[in-house]
Amino acid sequence: MNTMKISSKMKKALNDQVGLEASASNSYLAMASWCEVTGYEGAASYFYAQSDEERTHMLKIVHYLNDMGANATIPATKAPATTYKSLETILKTALKNEQLVTKAIHKMVELSQKDKDHSTYAFLEWFVNEQVQEETKFETLLQKFDLIGRDKLAINEIDKLLATQATAAEPAA
Ligand SMILES: [Fe+2]
Ligand SMILES: [Fe+2]
Repeated sequence: MNTMKISSKMKKALNDQVGLEASASNSYLAMASWCEVTGYEGAASYFYAQSDEERTHMLKIVHYLNDMGANATIPATKAPATTYKSLETILKTALKNEQLVTKAIHKMVELSQKDKDHSTYAFLEWFVNEQVQEETKFETLLQKFDLIGRDKLAINEIDKLLATQATAAEPAA
């Protein structure tokens, strides 16, 4: 076994982040499933892709922890909601969740600076940029309800728009 190259505080924070990414993945999976049975095909494929993306985030951190000799522990996650009020509610929940994740990432960046832990600082840079994109994505989608509307036709338009963005949610290489 390698000696640990990060502080135990950082190990704890990164392990907690594994849990946050796993929760996000599960939550998007539940949203995708609800969209699928509700008939929002575009939103369903969008959130299935989003769920996969969060899983790749989780894996990145698991591998990083193990590379740093700070064995990753996979936490239990709370079961996500099974029903939702509307597509707009789902997107609002998604944005709120991303804002929470951003805060957690920023806290880790600050800890890495305090620790003078350059490796983790560099590792986290990708996540900092990713969160900017994630928040913008959901903010822009939420704007569509004000721009296009909230009646059945408008929601159908937004669902179609989500279909076109479902592949764009693939993780960047
Ligand atoms: Fe993520
Ligand atoms: Fe995300």
